[in-house]
Amino acid sequence: MKSKSIAIMIYGEPGSTRNALTEEKYKNLAAHLAQKGFLVDSVVYNDSVAGNYKKVLLKYKAILVWVNPIEQENDRTILDNLLRKLSEKGCFVSAHPDTILKMGTKEVLYSIRDTELGGDIHLYHSVEDFIERFVKKIKAPRILKQYRGNGGDGVFKVEKNNEIIVTHAKGGRVETFTSDSDLIKMFSPYFSSNGMLIDQPWNSNIINGMVRCYLCANKVTGFGYQEINALYPGKRPGQRFYFSEDCGLFQDLRQKMEDSWINSIQASTQVTDELLPVIWDADFFINDVNNANTKEKYSLCEINVSCVSPFPESSIPYIARYLEKKIK
Ligand SMILES: Nc1ncnc2c1ncn2[C@@H]1O[C@H](COP(=O)(O)OP(=O)(O)OP(=O)(O)O)[C@@H](O)[C@H]1O
Ligand SMILES: [Mg+2]
Repeated sequence: MKSKSIAIMIYGEPGSTRNALTEEKYKNLAAHLAQKGFLVDSVVYNDSVAGNYKKVLLKYKAILVWVNPIEQENDRTILDNLLRKLSEKGCFVSAHPDTILKMGTKEVLYSIRDTELGGDIHLYHSVEDFIERFVKKIKAPRILKQYRGNGGDGVFKVEKNNEIIVTHAKGGRVETFTSDSDLIKMFSPYFSSNGMLIDQPWNSNIINGMVRCYLCANKVTGFGYQEINALYPGKRPGQRFYFSEDCGLFQDLRQKMEDSWINSIQASTQVTDELLPVIWDADFFINDVNNANTKEKYSLCEINVSCVSPFPESSIPYIARYLEKKIK
């Protein structure tokens, strides 16, 4: 194992020419790490290479992974098993698959429901439970989220008036049903293979835009602001703009995260300091821009752990310093 050697792992189909050292999203991180004396390689992963990779990857002290929960219809089962084995052998793996399970799936919204970040959140483990507690009771618009996903895949706004209107966050497609049974039929597949649905209130303050708070372990490293997001009434999502951790607009959020909300997330999910990822984010609705009470001003939409990129430039020195401590 070479000292200070790091693999940046990204997803690529067989034959892919992706290279994290030159790709826009990762090249500045790779260059900064190299400048700090790390030996940095790009590793392109898909399930077909998993078998050969165990030996190859053991030569790295750290493996930084940017692979989505679902890539080309494949989940991360094989990859996560590989990463667990590498971690057991002493590689520092981030994000560790166990950390992703604890704080990087939509279930985290339920785990932290009793904290200041929580609220009226429900979780359904079976179709029967979903029918009893959701389908038969829905009044105000709600948001349903599948257990693991990204890009708005498996995230839906559900409204029930004379008919049932379901809007997909991915692509904005709207479906209208006249009977509960059609709704049940649509959501039943989400319960297969130990799946579940998380049920969150629809937040109409989405029209104020959303702020993404980026973190390295327990430090806020920057922000992203996106004015038009998925499910914004009548509009297609727009661009996200990035700001440093010192941006004056979001200092209230930075302070609250570092003073208490990170601790709440860790306490509710049992993620120890050692297992906090090198880069993760928490997405917030801005309920009322002028509210001096940070807890009321922001509501949590979700947490991302497994594939947070792009990230603000200001995150890079934090990641390097964190790795210095992890792999001496
Ligand atoms: N409770 C809600 N109220 C209003 N809009 C919501 C709500 N939850 C999610 N959305 C919208 O749906 C989008 C996708 O939801 P979410 O971020 O939870 O899923 P995701 O698939 O993990 O997305 P990402 O790829 O950004 O991580 C959000 O960015 C937001 O625009
Ligand atoms: Mg997400």
